[in-house]
Amino acid sequence: MKVVPSGGALGADIEGVDLARAGRDPAAVGAVRQALLDHLVIRVRDQDLTDPDLLAFAAGFGELDRAPISPYGNKPYLPDFPYLGVISNIVIDGVPQGSLGSGESQWHGDMTYKDDPPMACVLYALQVPEAGGDTGFANMYRAFDALPADLRAAVRGRSAKHDSSTNSAGQTRHGFKDAYDDPDDIPGAVHPLVREHPETGKAALFLGRRLNAHIIGMDKPDSDDLLDRLWAHATQPHLTWTQRWRAGDFLMWDNRAVLHRRDAIDPAQPRMMHRAQIRDAWPVKAAG
Ligand code: OGA
Ligand code: MN
Repeated sequence: MKVVPSGGALGADIEGVDLARAGRDPAAVGAVRQALLDHLVIRVRDQDLTDPDLLAFAAGFGELDRAPISPYGNKPYLPDFPYLGVISNIVIDGVPQGSLGSGESQWHGDMTYKDDPPMACVLYALQVPEAGGDTGFANMYRAFDALPADLRAAVRGRSAKHDSSTNSAGQTRHGFKDAYDDPDDIPGAVHPLVREHPETGKAALFLGRRLNAHIIGMDKPDSDDLLDRLWAHATQPHLTWTQRWRAGDFLMWDNRAVLHRRDAIDPAQPRMMHRAQIRDAWPVKAAG
């Protein structure tokens, strides 16, 4: 197994590994986990994985987590595999075959609106468009390290509400209201703005998603101003790396240390990804 860094702000390819077998090999899982901790996003190209292969590999890292609630209802897309999510823009007879559709998805961390967000997510490309649908990742260790002094002082000891009512495409989830007048009514979890990564011990900026986010103990204008400045800082291009998908690509990201986003897709060009996420064995902890 060979780890080849992207040369960018994060990301590495792992070569010489067959993920259909690696999930049952603790040494291989350990090596991939180390690469994930070192590079935050790992990519393995040219994989040929069944759904059970994908789930078995993900389960090698820890307990599987349920997929996010879709805007269309609470049922899993694939009833035989409740832990397998589907990200797709394909619509058959008016029925979306997966989440997120064809639109752009905004910078976010996955399910940080829960008290116990997943440690990592995997995405496997079955069908990709000729262009569009690239996925960008931003390095939240570097974002923290590079904070200007005023922002570093402003986030110290602060926490924020991570809104659970909308998904990263900006769609309201099934069963939630569209708007909240009082920030205290926004549903979701409260997390520190700077977290200590449980495995590396490093401090990472922890922003979740921008829409409806609110810094605890600040009024809305001040909270919005600070959040806007933090987001502008954390998503600067030099802190990011972008995945351009090929069918057969397997991607895994450390959800404790990155944000990600996705470009829009031409609705006429089908994109089909299968996805799983892994629960964290450690709680979210504020950086000291
Ligand atoms: C996700 C996600 C981006 C993409 O699966 O959590 O944000 O490229 N996907 O589809
Ligand atoms: Mn996501």
